[in-house]
Amino acid sequence: MKGRIFSGIQPSGNLHLGNYLGAIRNWVRLQGDYEAIYCVVDLHAITVPQDPQTLRERTIEVAASFVAAGLDVEKTTIFAQSHVAAHPQLAWVFNCVTPLGWLNRMTQFKDKAGKKKDQAVAGLYTYPVLMAADILLYRATHVPVGEDQKQHVELARDIAGAFNRKYEQDFFPLPEPVIQEEAARIMSLRDGSRKMSSSDPSDQSRINMIDDADTIAQKIKRAKSDSEMGLSYDPESRPEASNLLQIYAALAEEPRSKVEAEFSETSFADFKARLSDLAVAKLEPITMEMRRLMDDRGEIEKILARGAAKAEAIASDNIAKVYDIVGFLPR
Ligand code: TRP
Repeated sequence: MKGRIFSGIQPSGNLHLGNYLGAIRNWVRLQGDYEAIYCVVDLHAITVPQDPQTLRERTIEVAASFVAAGLDVEKTTIFAQSHVAAHPQLAWVFNCVTPLGWLNRMTQFKDKAGKKKDQAVAGLYTYPVLMAADILLYRATHVPVGEDQKQHVELARDIAGAFNRKYEQDFFPLPEPVIQEEAARIMSLRDGSRKMSSSDPSDQSRINMIDDADTIAQKIKRAKSDSEMGLSYDPESRPEASNLLQIYAALAEEPRSKVEAEFSETSFADFKARLSDLAVAKLEPITMEMRRLMDDRGEIEKILARGAAKAEAIASDNIAKVYDIVGFLPR
């Protein structure tokens, strides 16, 4: 094993192709080489408003997607963050070693809080501290994330270093981000210049992990195109063509340049038909398994319970050591 991985996804929206190609598929690839812990980060989700019942549903859905996409429940640990109490416990300790200046630099907070900084909740601000706690609670060495989370993993490194220095210990490893090489940046099917997103009001803009074959085919057919003949990759002037090529390349696991050459003279209609066949072939087994698991909550609940027990075994040991290091009286 090359080390220990920790990563997480928030149960805060429809899971879609972008989550699969950008994160979960990569996790599946890594599971044999690392000891892997994958978490449904529900504590992070409530940094923005959530309907309680929907949050529960989505927690199940994210866990189901992990399993449906091919994460092995024997080899990996899959659990819900709120099931292991040591996450917020360690986050508190980290809140007390993290200078405000470090949090002020976080671009995601600035983006999410916008102009109404004073109204933003404190949890949104300290979100990266909780994320550092997630990773370091397991003393994870590697963190597979998208480019947009790199700054948070770097902060986790800084926090690990700050803790180690403050208490003159070599307790936490400095975790490294693992960013996918040709990171699949999957854009909206309706607007190739915007990221595919669970918060887009148009369901036509994304392929959800629970969409059936007909829905996938129909969404690709209706995806926005342009009037040029032949496909080419040029995100500036042809965002939609570029996005569809990128999706094809990612699904086919082929270099983009090869796919581009193959379809340089193909009409949009013909290309979409090919893409649709490929997408259905690659995604249908996953989406079918997703729906099966969603209909059988018991199975997912059991997986999460086992995962929580495995995670807890590591977490409780580490939080006990941290509490001792900082000088809390044993009970
Ligand atoms: N912040 C991550 C995101 O929104 C989710 C996350 C929470 C995470 N804790 C983590 C990712 C720990 C990796 C490791 O995508």
